[in-house]
Amino acid sequence: KNIAIIMGGYSSEVNISLESGAVVYQHISKEKYNTYKVHILKNKWIVVDDNGKEYAINKHDFSIIINNKTIHFDLVFNAIHGHPGEDGTILAYFDLLGIKHTSAPFYQMALTFNKRDCLSVVKQYGVKTATSYYLDKGETIDVGKIIKKVGLPCFVKPNKAGSSFGISKVKHQNEVIPAIEKAFTEDSQILIEEFLDGTEITIGVLNYHNTIKVLPMTEIVSENDFFDYEAKYLGKSQEITPARISNELHKKLEKIATKVYKILNMSGFSRSEYIIVNEEPYFLEMNTVPGLTAASIIPQQAAEEGIGLQELFDNAIEMALK
Ligand code: DAL
Ligand code: MG
Repeated sequence: KNIAIIMGGYSSEVNISLESGAVVYQHISKEKYNTYKVHILKNKWIVVDDNGKEYAINKHDFSIIINNKTIHFDLVFNAIHGHPGEDGTILAYFDLLGIKHTSAPFYQMALTFNKRDCLSVVKQYGVKTATSYYLDKGETIDVGKIIKKVGLPCFVKPNKAGSSFGISKVKHQNEVIPAIEKAFTEDSQILIEEFLDGTEITIGVLNYHNTIKVLPMTEIVSENDFFDYEAKYLGKSQEITPARISNELHKKLEKIATKVYKILNMSGFSRSEYIIVNEEPYFLEMNTVPGLTAASIIPQQAAEEGIGLQELFDNAIEMALK
């Protein structure tokens, strides 16, 4: 089987995705599968071989020609964080071409990548979420009204982005507008959320040999103001796996994380995030293409469970090929 590992993308997360994709490429079993590194970039779609040689993708049928031979792909391993991978755009294209992929269906991807819409769905099922205020580009910004609703401190986030790009924690009224301007550089929609003062827990859930498996949970202790880009990728945080939580809370979280995975019709990998306030979990967001770099959380959680990266990625392919 020919497997295209798609990586890169058009968002600020492009370089993180290239790292995630490289890790996936390194670990998928070379005996079982023919794997190709596929860079999906704004200016080009290419396959890059081990010598760095580039082959242009034919967008008509997502094929390439190497040594006069046309190669078609049986499956796409989606390692694109953000647009157009994690938001489902490119997956709709693969659906039309009849090429299978490791992610959830494109609609689920689009829904979960939109923080506001994802929160509004899980809320219907009794999952707790933070109080929030939504803002579209061009709308009048009423700082007083925003603060009245969400209080201070609050978080200003692009509605559709990852890796904390464009996010600010706002403590003073006069920081609201600059924070909104910053978030608008990533997306035309913004979500402003109340600050939940509690413990951050992130939970990997995946389809492992046809059962929904919850990996050991990770507690995030950020040295920075919150789990921002620096904390995520430049070592400015402690990621404690397994999380130091009571058995009771662990059971509760396991149940909620599984429920959320089902409500959102996930398949393959996912990593959902929660803030725990007085033993009550508040759902923050769902990541459908979680980071897979050496610094990322899913590989740490899998290792804690005794699942190696080859097993993790081969399983994702097996599940998607069925
Ligand atoms: N968006 C980053 C890659 C993550 O969720 O891990
Ligand atoms: Mg995220």
